[in-house]
Amino acid sequence: MNSLLVDNIGELVTNVAGSGEGGPLGIRRRAAVLVEEDRIAWIGPAAIAPAAARRIDVDGAAALPGFVDSHAHLVFAGDRAAEFAARMAGQPYTGGGIRTTVGATRAASDDTLRATVRRLRAEALRQGTTTIEIKSGYGLTVADEARSLRIAAEVTGETTFLGAHVVPTEYADRPDDYVGLVCGPMLRAAAPYAKWIDVFCERGAFDVDHARAILACGQALGLGVRVHANQLGPGPGVQLGVELGAASVDHCTHLDDADVEALASTGTPETGTGTVATLLPGVEFSTRSPYPDARRLLDAGVTVALATDCNPGSSYTSSMPFCVALAVREMGMTPAEAVWAATAGGARALRRTDVGVLRVGARADLTILDAPSHLHLAYRPGVPLIRQVLHNGVPTCRP
Ligand code: NIG
Ligand code: FE
Repeated sequence: MNSLLVDNIGELVTNVAGSGEGGPLGIRRRAAVLVEEDRIAWIGPAAIAPAAARRIDVDGAAALPGFVDSHAHLVFAGDRAAEFAARMAGQPYTGGGIRTTVGATRAASDDTLRATVRRLRAEALRQGTTTIEIKSGYGLTVADEARSLRIAAEVTGETTFLGAHVVPTEYADRPDDYVGLVCGPMLRAAAPYAKWIDVFCERGAFDVDHARAILACGQALGLGVRVHANQLGPGPGVQLGVELGAASVDHCTHLDDADVEALASTGTPETGTGTVATLLPGVEFSTRSPYPDARRLLDAGVTVALATDCNPGSSYTSSMPFCVALAVREMGMTPAEAVWAATAGGARALRRTDVGVLRVGARADLTILDAPSHLHLAYRPGVPLIRQVLHNGVPTCRP
């Protein structure tokens, strides 16, 4: 048996509510975690920790479940640094740059795309992300969407078909035909590599009828639903997600009271089955836009997740600690709420019960900080606080 003891944890965030201090965070002090193969076998006081084949002494540091980044677009070529610079000089973000990345992605070789996906996956892991969702959406042909998902599936099981990201230029004057392509041949080619289906439901992308039709086709093939909704303005995306039983509606920047009520009616953080509101503060940072009101959602009882939305246009960050810090400073979340949303919240957004939580039987995905408390993730923004990451029980980095 391959066993490893992570010993002398000063503060262990478990996300098992009621198992310690801090309400939903279930914080244990002076704890140890025994890992056997890729699972957690024991959690308890360091003073009575069992022996193991190997031992890591973290010397009083804080540890928490690996971050669950439930929204990322890592399959692309090129970058859009000049577009970012133009925005910082006053240009608005419209999503129009997506087509620039589509052109670069179509022109890239499989190996170029694979290298980018692996580089960004490794970058995220170094920052404590142990579970990551990856979308297609920069190919927008049958072959390019299928290969995007095939390459994404090499690094994660959480793959999402986003053929309905925008209508590509060659279909600009016949969007109905493009929706037919997405629902038919493109979905059939993508589905073997995809767990989820997503649509950018927004003015300038897909309207609610097209979005509903595409998501329903995906559901009929057994894919779970997620929606890019209410990012650039108010709209029907959130309500559509709730109607279809989406695991998550993402962005949620422009919500009215009915949107918030609809989300709250789907379930609570405890039940874990409702539609999660996934907030992506890297987008508002990188597009210089008003942040979503996380406080309003939390006070209404909505389950909130935080994710990076890592992509070359609206949010080119793979850093969950950065998103935690933004959520605390700009969106009205407490540090505890933000850490929960970046771990357990992300797990709920992916309908996973084996990650985002530290209990016996869960995946041995642990992030160990160079800090005594989870509070430091927001208190020390921009500082490389990730000291060690265990992914599936394997220590992956020691900078
Ligand atoms: O989630 N909103 C749509 N899609 C991405 C942006 C992609 C891009 O600008 O390249 C997002 O923000
Ligand atoms: Fe996105």
